[in-house]
Amino acid sequence: MNTGVSETIKKYCIVPVVVFNSVDEVRPKLRAMCDGGLPVAEITFRTDCAAEAIKIAVEEFPEMLIGAGTVINGEQAQAAFDAGAKFIVSPGFSEEVARFCAENGLPYFGGCVTPTEIMTAIANGCRVIKFFPCSNYGGIKTMKALSAAFPSVTFLPTGGISADNLAEYLAWDKITAVGGSWMMKGTPDEIKEKCKAAVEAAKAVRG
Ligand code: 3PG
Repeated sequence: MNTGVSETIKKYCIVPVVVFNSVDEVRPKLRAMCDGGLPVAEITFRTDCAAEAIKIAVEEFPEMLIGAGTVINGEQAQAAFDAGAKFIVSPGFSEEVARFCAENGLPYFGGCVTPTEIMTAIANGCRVIKFFPCSNYGGIKTMKALSAAFPSVTFLPTGGISADNLAEYLAWDKITAVGGSWMMKGTPDEIKEKCKAAVEAAKAVRG
């Protein structure tokens, strides 16, 4: 795994999940995130402008760690890589995407919620597991049960995480980072304030 990326993710321990409906949103929202002290973005392939948004982000916000999210096949992984994404996230686990990432030196956080899926992730060289949708699949209780069988993995839970409950997750050392979209709602000023609050909440637990 690219140590620079994993160190940065561990340092901030929050991965904002970002959906851009238009490239016009990219600059003001990313600026707000930087001003709020959270220069990390997982830009999702849920919208057609994802690759272009990643390209703008990488070129114009070199201080940020930019990755791609909701990548569900090799074609999207290629587009994300070509646009300059530094890590790839999927809602489920894709062996095709895992292979692409391994070949191109990109950290891959594939989604797993069952022992079988985690075994597939391990067989593909992945050690940080996205656990999504976290609250629907039993949250920290389920991750702790899975961790007993898979002590070598750590988790990136997303889905239902917010400023109000992130401390519960970050208090456990098997959580590499928490992810979510809660801080991305509203105007750029609101995003900045929510990012600040998220960073403060994380610092209170992780220092
Ligand atoms: C994801 O893709 O990780 C989730 O959509 C984030 O979930 P949230 O919107 O509940 O934060």
